[in-house]
Amino acid sequence: MYSLLKPLLFRMDPESSHDLTLGQLAWLGKSPLKGLIAQSVPDKPVELMGLRFKNPVGLAAGLDKNGAAIDAFAAMGFGFIEVGTVTPRPQPGNPKPRLFRLPQAQAIINRMGFNNLGVDNLVENVKASNYKGVLGINIGKNKDTPVEEGTNDYLICLDKVYGHASYVTVNISSPNTPGLRSLQYGEAFDELLSSVKARQEKLADQHGRYVPIVVKIAPDMNLEELQSVADCLRRHHLDGVIATNTTLSREGVEGLKHGDEAGGLSGRPVRQKSTETVKNLKAMLAGELPIIGVGGIDSAQSAREKLAAGADLLQIYTGFIYQGPALVKAIVEGIE
Ligand SMILES: Cc1cc2nc3c(=O)[nH]c(=O)nc-3n(C[C@H](O)[C@H](O)[C@H](O)COP(=O)(O)O)c2cc1C
Repeated sequence: MYSLLKPLLFRMDPESSHDLTLGQLAWLGKSPLKGLIAQSVPDKPVELMGLRFKNPVGLAAGLDKNGAAIDAFAAMGFGFIEVGTVTPRPQPGNPKPRLFRLPQAQAIINRMGFNNLGVDNLVENVKASNYKGVLGINIGKNKDTPVEEGTNDYLICLDKVYGHASYVTVNISSPNTPGLRSLQYGEAFDELLSSVKARQEKLADQHGRYVPIVVKIAPDMNLEELQSVADCLRRHHLDGVIATNTTLSREGVEGLKHGDEAGGLSGRPVRQKSTETVKNLKAMLAGELPIIGVGGIDSAQSAREKLAAGADLLQIYTGFIYQGPALVKAIVEGIE
């Protein structure tokens, strides 16, 4: 069905097409017509962080920022679903246009800027869904919260989503919120992780349930920076890491239409950078934290490449936009 719809969707501007599709999916996921988007994907369970993933292929954050279409993505056979990034208060994101397709490179550039309806809305959507599988909730900070007070935004979101998430992702790697990536470094990172871990301990007591917390990092770090991130993640006993977010590099899209738009580049051009980050992290973490590999996965082959580099689980976004739900099935069937 996606191959029939795609030419129509790709004729619209990317954001209208995204909004229209997500609206339809939100509706379909709750209707008796859900079967239209359902596909059967073999079970390839993975046990990790005390959770059981139906298969290792997850939906990456940012596609369903408000958790509006969880049931629809579940029907497509994803092994887990990550919603968000969500912020404490609703915010409009950056001015449009802010989403660009680069089909020749099988890539996307976006500078959405965490447009979302706020954490309370997301929690209501999660409560209304029927999904019983692994649900990650990805949290961030509002644009108008000063970076020095950023930790507080993560704690507000953590408090609110804790009881509704299988795991929580601390996103400090979007390039589209000014200053956000500075939280990946030095004292700011140390302080953020220690506050988040202390709050997790308190919440685990209150809820009688330990919810793992993972950190999502950028692909644009040098080895020294990555080493210091890995050391900090180990020191604070984080539960996992997601590598990677979009890149600021424009390698692979030079000269293409939209290739010089500001924002984060995803899809095929980020594939190798993400894989290298996974590989380096695998060595630096000494097997202490699981790795969720994401970036440019658009085939079973590129999925196997991430797994071979050390990823325990995978996520897809841009490949899914270009290929639709068939990609989930192709990857799950094409990996061990
Ligand atoms: C339009 C768009 C919006 C995104 N929004 C988010 C987001 O809100 N939070 C987040 O952690 N990652 C976000 N991402 C990053 C993806 O989750 C993923 O890490 C990245 O795109 C690399 O994977 P891919 O090459 O499969 O797309 C976004 C990506 C795209 C293309």
